[in-house]
Amino acid sequence: MTHFTDQQYLLSQQYKDAANLNARVELHKRFSTNKYGWNRWVFDQLKLTPGEHVLELGCGPGHLWAGNIDRLPAPCHLTLTDFSSGMIQEAHAKLGTLDGTRFKVVDVQDIPYDDGDFDVVVANHMLYHVPDRTRALSEIRRVLKNQGGRFYASTLGRAHMQELAQLVNRFDPALMFMSNAQTDGFSLESGGEQLAQHFASVTIRRYEDALVVTEAAPLIAYVLSSFSGRSLAGDRLPTFTQFVQQELATHDAIRITKDSGIFICCVGE
Ligand SMILES: C[S@@+](CC[C@H](N)C(=O)[O-])C[C@H]1O[C@@H](n2cnc3c(N)ncnc32)[C@H](O)[C@@H]1O
Repeated sequence: MTHFTDQQYLLSQQYKDAANLNARVELHKRFSTNKYGWNRWVFDQLKLTPGEHVLELGCGPGHLWAGNIDRLPAPCHLTLTDFSSGMIQEAHAKLGTLDGTRFKVVDVQDIPYDDGDFDVVVANHMLYHVPDRTRALSEIRRVLKNQGGRFYASTLGRAHMQELAQLVNRFDPALMFMSNAQTDGFSLESGGEQLAQHFASVTIRRYEDALVVTEAAPLIAYVLSSFSGRSLAGDRLPTFTQFVQQELATHDAIRITKDSGIFICCVGE
């Protein structure tokens, strides 16, 4: 098992709180060419109507809802869950005052709600971390209403951040930084087939975007926060920093492909 699906590692290190995730979000926030914003776009896809019951799995610190607080339908019944208690504490600190919102520590492989409790289930950038995805998808289908239930699952594609991987691997090929194999388990290329086993219709939408990075520090913070970049902290950091600064001085910006999107799944045709 790689770190990417190692539940113990995810809970005790990578996602014990939102620090690593926030370092990555910060890079996207500052240097993305599409200024509309990922969370605004995901929210558009949900097409929520007043009174719907919504479950988010692997919600992290609640970025999706914090970024759309001005346009939540009223009433809105949100259940925000994550298997990391640190993430749930941060989501609660940010969104605890939101009317009709509850927070719970939940593993997507064992959802503690009744059949048909929800109109909408959301799983953003999280299914690639789950060892037993067949079980997770059965659980998601079970808690959705038979009439009109919708599931939204965002993920990454093969090309995502490929230039960053090339850059880091030029610095140290042994790192095998962000080899795309990490998200292959549930990617824009492989996810559709898995979802079709559980849902009557599955469509995919891609979000057009790229990064043009002009500062070294946020890029380095991104690399250090990630699964395969952690070993560049400590003694090796000064040389790596110099390497990135040199790259920026030569090209005046580092251009990076983004490849992300969402699967929209319906219970009925
Ligand atoms: C890449 S983060 C995405 C967070 C948030 N959905 C977002 O898009 O900002 C993945 C999240 O999934 C959570 N996660 C990983 N495995 C999980 C599991 N088996 N059940 C529930 N949550 C899980 C992690 O704790 C983390 O918060």
